[in-house]
Amino acid sequence: MRSSVIIATWLSFRGVQTHALGPFEKNIAARADHLNIATTALKPLLSQNASVILPTDNDWDALQIRGTSPRIHPKFNAIVEPATEADVQKTVQFASKFGIPFLAVSGTHGWTKTLNNLPYGIQINMRKLNSVTVDPSGNTATIGGGTLQWEANKVLYAKGKQAVLTLCECTSIAGPMLAGGHSMLQARHGYTLDNLVSARVILANGTAVTASSSSNSDLFWALRGAGQSFGIVTSLQLNVYDIPSTWTISTFIYRSDKLEAVLDAVNKLDGDAMRSQNLVINGVGTRIPPMDPQNPMIIYTLSYQGPEAEALPYFSKFKAIGPITVKPSTNVNNMELYKITQNSVDSAACARNKNSMGSGVSLPSWNTTAARAAFNIFAKMTADRRFSRSVFLLENYGMQGVRAVDPSLTSLSLEERQYPAVANPTIWWNGTAAVGQADAEAYGEQIRQALFAGLPKGAKKHTYVNYAVGTENFNQMYGYDTARVQRLKTLKKAYDPENRFGFYNPVPLA
Ligand SMILES: Cc1cc2nc3c(=O)[nH]c(=O)nc-3n(C[C@H](O)[C@H](O)[C@H](O)COP(=O)(O)OP(=O)(O)OC[C@H]3O[C@@H](n4cnc5c(N)ncnc54)[C@H](O)[C@@H]3O)c2cc1C
Ligand SMILES: *[C@@H]1O[C@H](CO)[C@@H](O)[C@H](O)[C@H]1NC(C)=O
Ligand SMILES: *[C@@H]1O[C@H](CO)[C@@H](O)[C@H](O)[C@H]1NC(C)=O
Ligand SMILES: *[C@@H]1O[C@H](CO)[C@@H](O)[C@H](O)[C@H]1NC(C)=O
Ligand SMILES: *[C@@H]1O[C@H](CO)[C@@H](O)[C@H](O)[C@H]1NC(C)=O
Repeated sequence: MRSSVIIATWLSFRGVQTHALGPFEKNIAARADHLNIATTALKPLLSQNASVILPTDNDWDALQIRGTSPRIHPKFNAIVEPATEADVQKTVQFASKFGIPFLAVSGTHGWTKTLNNLPYGIQINMRKLNSVTVDPSGNTATIGGGTLQWEANKVLYAKGKQAVLTLCECTSIAGPMLAGGHSMLQARHGYTLDNLVSARVILANGTAVTASSSSNSDLFWALRGAGQSFGIVTSLQLNVYDIPSTWTISTFIYRSDKLEAVLDAVNKLDGDAMRSQNLVINGVGTRIPPMDPQNPMIIYTLSYQGPEAEALPYFSKFKAIGPITVKPSTNVNNMELYKITQNSVDSAACARNKNSMGSGVSLPSWNTTAARAAFNIFAKMTADRRFSRSVFLLENYGMQGVRAVDPSLTSLSLEERQYPAVANPTIWWNGTAAVGQADAEAYGEQIRQALFAGLPKGAKKHTYVNYAVGTENFNQMYGYDTARVQRLKTLKKAYDPENRFGFYNPVPLA
């Protein structure tokens, strides 16, 4: 019988997978006849609008391109585009049954190198599960698991709504949310994951469940902080809010000698309990040779969701530091916001198929001595022509909304709930040479260690899961308090004992 041939072939895959994979076996696993068998076996199980795509198909090459390929290159040898939740379920059941590795892909902007550990297997491309519906109450929206930020923003904006979306238009909603979701609205409403009401999740064994505070509440807890290690979200229900106002924005460009003055001003604002929850502070170090051929510039964008009169007292503090240029924008609506803050789909930040690497560090405040040391390394790195386009993100989006959430409600680490300052040297370079990658990692690590050297006594080293390089240890990303991390590991063992969701900064089994 045909199916027994298929199963026998996949079982031989399974044998390959459970032993150490050598290059020879990987090669075998990629053989075209096996892929054809996969199509034959899986395709009839899927809905009419689902697709299965193989290396011989026209769409194949385009679907290998990621935000940060070639640096990030999970090794796929078949792609499934589910069109329904049941399609995701059947694909996971099929893959799990025969021990075939798989990985969900939505925005393609995941940039941790643990994604490269996928040895071969199925790309579950979530992009057909792309939908946004504001629920009848007007307080939540139901969003497909493969929806991108800009797609959700567009639908919400048309209804006068906004959600705790992340800054770049090009990432998915689910991807950032599952480990946090830093947002221009976090000071008011918490991280994206704090706004998750419920999610439909396909577990490792192919079961579809609802996770919410009243259904599978332990899974709901784990999903909000370590979600990529637990399942595939096919749809999610997120809080939405009425748009209160347009934005007032001002961008200040300083010479690099103003770093200490700017960071002191940011620390003062962050330490002020009265800091407005409407204010977002977004800094970037980057080279602009016509302005300064020797050193990177420092660019600070202050965004305020509210009228100019309320924003000006904040802006005046940054003006007083002595920028060389100031660029104001008033009455910016939620559709224009991404363009003005240089986070739109056509921005450099959203470029695809270019090596980039984050090397994130979260901090309880800026230590200007340590920041200067880190900035000097950044200056040296960007003097190296290969890395000249890199940017040093210096983020303080505001924490009141994040800290207002009881930390026991989600698996998110305590550091991620508390630390207001995020530094993320974002390193860009061209080409596939291993030396480029190694040098980028070395620079990233030096910058990171310089910042960590400025931590106050007793403060823990922390990296936001979604800004990890992929070399961090578990505690640096997921936290240090024993009860929390033990619960995470125990749940991981219960929900995913074979570690099928093991390619994104994975939570180890207990
Ligand atoms: C240009 C850029 C801008 C960024 N901006 C922000 C920001 O403003 N705020 C912020 O918090 N983070 C930001 N990040 C980090 C971002 O959160 C992560 O890179 C995130 O992994 C991107 O998700 P994705 O869906 O785009 O990528 P993908 O590579 O498609 O997915 C990333 C991971 O999530 C998993 N995944 C994707 N979809 C699902 C799903 N439906 N269910 C379960 N797992 C899923 C994938 O399997 C993979 O492991 C940014 C990153 C980049 C490169
Ligand atoms: C398949 O896609 C088409 C076009 O998008 C749509 O009109 C149709 O309703 C879909 N079919 C099913 C069964 O979802
Ligand atoms: C990288 O390649 C692009 C073209 O793809 C080019 O414009 C750019 O100058 C290159 N950058 C470096 C640092 O070589
Ligand atoms: C700031 O960082 C430096 C290291 O760069 C360290 O020596 C100093 O103790 C730190 N200051 C504080 C107040 O923690
Ligand atoms: C699938 O896994 C879940 C979570 O561990 C478990 O509750 C459920 O019984 C499993 N289902 C099957 C069919 O094994």
